[in-house]
Amino acid sequence: MTAITDIAAVGAWLRDARAIAVLSGAGMSAESGVPTFRDAQTGLWAKFRPEELATEAAFRADPRRVWDWYASRREMMKDVHPNAGHHAIAAFQQRHPGRLTLITQNVDGLHQRAGSIGTLCLHGDIFADRWLDTPRNCCHIDHAVAGHPPYCDRCGNLVRPGVVWFGEPLPYATLEAAQQAARTCELMLVVGTAGAVYPAAGLAQVARQAGARVAIINPAASDLDDVAHALLSGTAASVLPALLAGV
Ligand code: APR
Repeated sequence: MTAITDIAAVGAWLRDARAIAVLSGAGMSAESGVPTFRDAQTGLWAKFRPEELATEAAFRADPRRVWDWYASRREMMKDVHPNAGHHAIAAFQQRHPGRLTLITQNVDGLHQRAGSIGTLCLHGDIFADRWLDTPRNCCHIDHAVAGHPPYCDRCGNLVRPGVVWFGEPLPYATLEAAQQAARTCELMLVVGTAGAVYPAAGLAQVARQAGARVAIINPAASDLDDVAHALLSGTAASVLPALLAGV
């Protein structure tokens, strides 16, 4: 069945849905000034090779380069603000407590800064530090010696960004909760993701197979378009306020 493109129809689905899930990706934060990953030219992976910066092996091979790259992204993310899309979701959650589960692939914290509650962060948090190796009694993150990256002066353990790198498992409880939300929602909004990275992208299929309607918000085609009942061609900060404000 061909996907519809009528925002009013999706609005009606939204009004009828008792349980809603939102799956967001980098496009959600694009209008806040955070580069996406795969957009041609502007995407991070158009400039950098993910295997050289977003894997544990890359960090062990060149800790300074990887740490400094994440540190520069953190600095950039401190200077940006949630956009109208982030605010529309947070406001909907405040108007309808417990009705919308927000699942994000983003590590920028902008959903939380917009006021969203209980955001399921599948790929971690760029502002959260943790130890590279299992911490010993001597490893106290607050006492790590400053450096690129900071380290434990007793055992040399390195501090790494609290994000999920390629090849690493997602946080178990968070993924479980996200899959539960996908299995039980009546409508899933998929916002600003290319749908290229699993298991996150698989949540749309889980929702559809469980009988939910799936609506995609993206100005371009994505790998999940054939899973969608509706394709709303537009940006997060323009479509979400229009869609959510009326409910
Ligand atoms: N509004 C909505 N969507 C947008 C906007 C916008 N303003 N601008 C771009 N997009 C869309 C693009 O068309 C693209 O489909 O957002 C998508 C961004 O895709 P990616 O850059 O691949 O980001 P994402 O899908 O979130 O990546 C998944 O890959 O690199 C890893 O861990 C990283 O979480 C990330 C994961």
